[in-house]
Amino acid sequence: MKPLLALNWKLQKSPAESYAWGRALLEQIPEELPAELAVMAAAVSLDRLGNALRGSEVHWGAQDVSQHAKGAYTGEIAVQWLNELDCAYVVIGHSERREYHGETDTIAGAKTAVAIRGGVKPILCVGEKLEVREAGHAESHTLGQLETALSWLTPELVQSEFAGSLEWLTIAYEPIWAIGTGKTATPDDAENMGNTMRAWFVGKYGTMAEQVRLLYGGSVKPDNIKALCSRNNVNGALVGGASLELESVLKMLEALV
Ligand code: 13P
Repeated sequence: MKPLLALNWKLQKSPAESYAWGRALLEQIPEELPAELAVMAAAVSLDRLGNALRGSEVHWGAQDVSQHAKGAYTGEIAVQWLNELDCAYVVIGHSERREYHGETDTIAGAKTAVAIRGGVKPILCVGEKLEVREAGHAESHTLGQLETALSWLTPELVQSEFAGSLEWLTIAYEPIWAIGTGKTATPDDAENMGNTMRAWFVGKYGTMAEQVRLLYGGSVKPDNIKALCSRNNVNGALVGGASLELESVLKMLEALV
């Protein structure tokens, strides 16, 4: 599978900045992209970003979605509206949503279900805090997050509702101690967790497990992306800080050739 380079802009670019960035990107990206590229912008920027990128190969998406379809939920964004804006992806359960907005694995699971049923592909984020890793529980913690968030996704349901395919599912392993800290997990750490997660998927879903895309996120930059993404079961990256400057994104694309 082609790697996925997913850019998470967080609370960093306004609608006007998002539009200008999207136009500038299309002027400079290579004709043949070495990776699938997706830009996750603030909800209020998605319409303008989409206008900038529509017609190109570059995808766009949101950083969160409501678990509800409609109703009295002040401030929430419905998946149908993301779909209406042609969002290909939505980030779900990012550690910043968990820390600052009380999101749990159960909520992340409900949002994952709502996203895919609403036609927007979820990028479900998991990963441990430093103390959990130091206690030797990084793998059991991360698998526990998957277990709870995907408890609704039984193998039978994959057959009956999703035509036996898990191609729509992306998991981003983002160890919290590596986010925005400049401390990157080593390629070995990233691969080990990728292997662990793949084995969990195989145990639960059998051969369909190979279709799930597994990303690494946490201080990914132009000078480390190749070493990380050339490993087994690291099928791309979710990038925060290094996704803001166009030049750095172009360098990351170049590194993935
Ligand atoms: P940084 O790349 O800034 O460490 O952020 C990672 C992240 O949280 C992407 O979702």
